[in-house]
Amino acid sequence: MDIPRHVGIIMDGNGRWAQQRSMLRTQGHLEGLQAAKRIVKAASDMGIQYLTLYTFSTENWKRAVDEVGFIMGLVKQYLRGEMDFYRQNHIRIRHTGDAAGLPEDIASEIAGAAADTKDFNGMQVILALNYGGRDELIRALRRLAAQNQDMATVTEKDIAACLDNPDVPDPDLIIRSAGEYRMSNFLLWEGAYSELYVSAKLWPDWTGSDLAEAIDEYRSRDRRFGGIT
Ligand code: FPP
Repeated sequence: MDIPRHVGIIMDGNGRWAQQRSMLRTQGHLEGLQAAKRIVKAASDMGIQYLTLYTFSTENWKRAVDEVGFIMGLVKQYLRGEMDFYRQNHIRIRHTGDAAGLPEDIASEIAGAAADTKDFNGMQVILALNYGGRDELIRALRRLAAQNQDMATVTEKDIAACLDNPDVPDPDLIIRSAGEYRMSNFLLWEGAYSELYVSAKLWPDWTGSDLAEAIDEYRSRDRRFGGIT
C-alpha cells in the first residue's frame, strides 16, 4: 500500500509531558508546538498531501481560561512564525472548525494564512481549531437546510458536500499520541474508514521517525472498506 494521502493527528499528552517534569501545562503545549513543526516538516518531506492537526476541540473551552488563551496565542505564533517555511515548502494552510466561535483575532489570523497560502500546491495543513465532529455535522446540515435541501431525500454525497472542506479526501490514517483509544470527536464523518494508530508516546516527544513508524504500520494494513479482499 502507498503512503496515506491524508493523515489526521490527535496530538495528545502535552499536559502529562509537563506534569512528569513538574512543569506548567503551558510548557507542555509549547513543546507540543515544536513537535507539530517537526511533524509538518516530516510529513511534507514524505509526500503526504493532507495533514489535519487536532489543535483545539469544541470541548477544550472547558479548560482554564489561561490555558485556552495560551493555546490560542501559540496558534497565532505558529501561523505568523512559519510563513517563510510554508512559502519555501509550498504548504497551504486551511482551517476546519467553527470560525465564528473563535476569538476574532485568531479567526482573522487563520483566514489570512489560508488566503496567503491558497495557491501553494504542496502539502495542505488543516488546523482543526474549535473543531468537533458533531459540530461540523450540525453546521453541514444547517448549510444543507439553507439550500432548501429536502431532508427526506438527503444523500451521503449531499452531506459530504457541505462539510467544512468538501474537496479534502477522507483521512486514510488517524494517529493518536499518548496512549488513549478514543476519537474525542475528531473527524467523525470523514474518519468512518480511517485506519487508527495509537502510540503511547506523549505528543511533545514525537519526531519524524514516530510518523514514519505509523506510516509503516499503516502500509501493512488490509483496507477493506467493509468489503472482502
Ligand atoms: C492535548 O494535550 C493537546 C491540546 C489540547 C493542544 C494542542 C496544541 C498544540 C500541540 C500546540 C499548538 C499546535 C499548533 C499546530 C498551532 P493535553 O493537554 O490534553 O494533554 P494531557 O491529556 O496529557 O493533559
